Amino acid sequence: MLILGIESSCDETGAAIVKDGRYLLANVVASQTEIHERYGGVVPEVASRQQLAAILPVIETALQQARCRWEDIEAVAATYGPGLAGSLLVGLTVGKTLALARDLPFLGVNHLEAHIYANWLRPTLDADLQSGANETECAYLPGDPLFPLICLVVSGAHSELVLMRDHTDYLLLGRTRDDAAGEAFDKVARILGLGYPGGPAIQQAARLAEEELRQQRLPVRNPYRLPRAWLRGTYDFSFSGLKTAMLHLAEGLVADQQAGRPLPSGGRQVSRYTTMGNEAARRGQVHIGLLAAGFQEAIVDVLAVKTRLAAQEYHVRQVLLAGGVAANVALRARLEEELTPLGIRLQYPPIEFCTDNAAMVAAAAFFHRLHGEQHDLDLDVEPNLSLPFRQE
Ligand code: KG4
Ligand code: ZN
Repeated sequence: MLILGIESSCDETGAAIVKDGRYLLANVVASQTEIHERYGGVVPEVASRQQLAAILPVIETALQQARCRWEDIEAVAATYGPGLAGSLLVGLTVGKTLALARDLPFLGVNHLEAHIYANWLRPTLDADLQSGANETECAYLPGDPLFPLICLVVSGAHSELVLMRDHTDYLLLGRTRDDAAGEAFDKVARILGLGYPGGPAIQQAARLAEEELRQQRLPVRNPYRLPRAWLRGTYDFSFSGLKTAMLHLAEGLVADQQAGRPLPSGGRQVSRYTTMGNEAARRGQVHIGLLAAGFQEAIVDVLAVKTRLAAQEYHVRQVLLAGGVAANVALRARLEEELTPLGIRLQYPPIEFCTDNAAMVAAAAFFHRLHGEQHDLDLDVEPNLSLPFRQE
C-alpha cells in the first residue's frame, strides 16, 4: 500500500511516499532553519507563511522522485497535531483537499506517533541494491521492532517514556514535569551563545571540547558536573533545574558568591556546582564547549538510566528512541552502554528520520489504515494533542 504523507507541524515542510509503512520511495523536506536562526527560535507567523510557500512544490517533488502516478497512491495522511496551529493548518488542509480531489481515504496523524514509527522505516531493497549493497547485506536490514517495547520520545516539546505492547497501543510511564529535553537543549544553547537549533550545536561544541581534552592528554573527565533531577520512584523527568544551573554558571554567579552577594533562591545546590566550575576556571579549563558537554552528559544520564530502569521493570527486549533528540550521538552511546549488557536491543531511526519528516507520517498512517481507519474531512488541527494513552 502506497501512502502519501505530509508533515507541517513546525518549521519543516515534508512530503513522502512510503510503501507498506516501511519502504521509502521518496522523502522530501524543506527546512526553514536558516530563516529562524537569526531569531534564535521558531517564529510561528513566519513558519506558517513558509509552509504555505513550500508545501505544493515539496509534494510535487516527492511524486516525481517516487516515479509514481496519483493512481498508485492509496491514501493521503497529514499531521494534525501537536504543533504550531498555523503550520499544522497548511499541511492538514492540503492533505484533506488532495484526498477529496482524488477520492482517496484521508488519515490525520499524531506527530508523536509518527516520530515513533520512524523506527519502522528502511530503504527500499531496490534503492539498497542500487547503492552498492549486495543481496546478503540487504537480508540483514533491521527488521520491525518487537513488542512489548519501551519507547523514549524526546522531541522539542515532549519527553515521554512509553510502554508499547502492540501497534498504536501506548501506556504512559513518565513524562517531563517542566521543560522537554529538546527545549532544554535549545534554551541552554541560547544561554551559551551556541545558536539554533540547540541540540546539534551543543553536540558539536561538546564533541570538539572533548577532543581537545583528549589531544592535550588531559583526563577526559569533565570538570563541570551539573545537577541531575532523578525524581526517584517515578519515570518522570525534570530539566528546568539543570537549565537554571547552566544560566547561573554562564552569568557568573561564582563572582557574586565570592563578592559575598546572596545567592538567589534555590541557589544552594547551584553554588556547589559553580564552585567546581570556578575551580576548573582557575586551572585554565573553563570552556563553553566543556560546559555544553557537562550539560549534555547530565541530560543524557537521566534519560538513559530511567529508560533502562523501565526496560528492566517491564521485561522488554527492545528500546526505541524517537524524536529530534534521538539524533544525539551521546544519548545513543549512553543508552547502548546501559542496555547492551542486559541483552536489550536499542533501535533508533537514521539521523534524517529523527527530526521532522513526512516519511514517518506515512509509516504511522499505514498501521492505522491496516485496520481500515480513516478520518472525516472535518478533522481540525490539535496543537496540544498528546499520544493516545491507554488508561490502566
Ligand atoms: O522532533 P523534532 O524535530 O521537532 C519536534 O517535534 O519538536 O525535535 C526538535 C528538537 C530540537 O529541540 C532540537 O534541538 C533537538 O530536537 N535536536 C537535538 C539534536 N538534533 C535535534 N537534540 C540533541 N542532539 C541532537 N543531535
Ligand atoms: Zn517532531
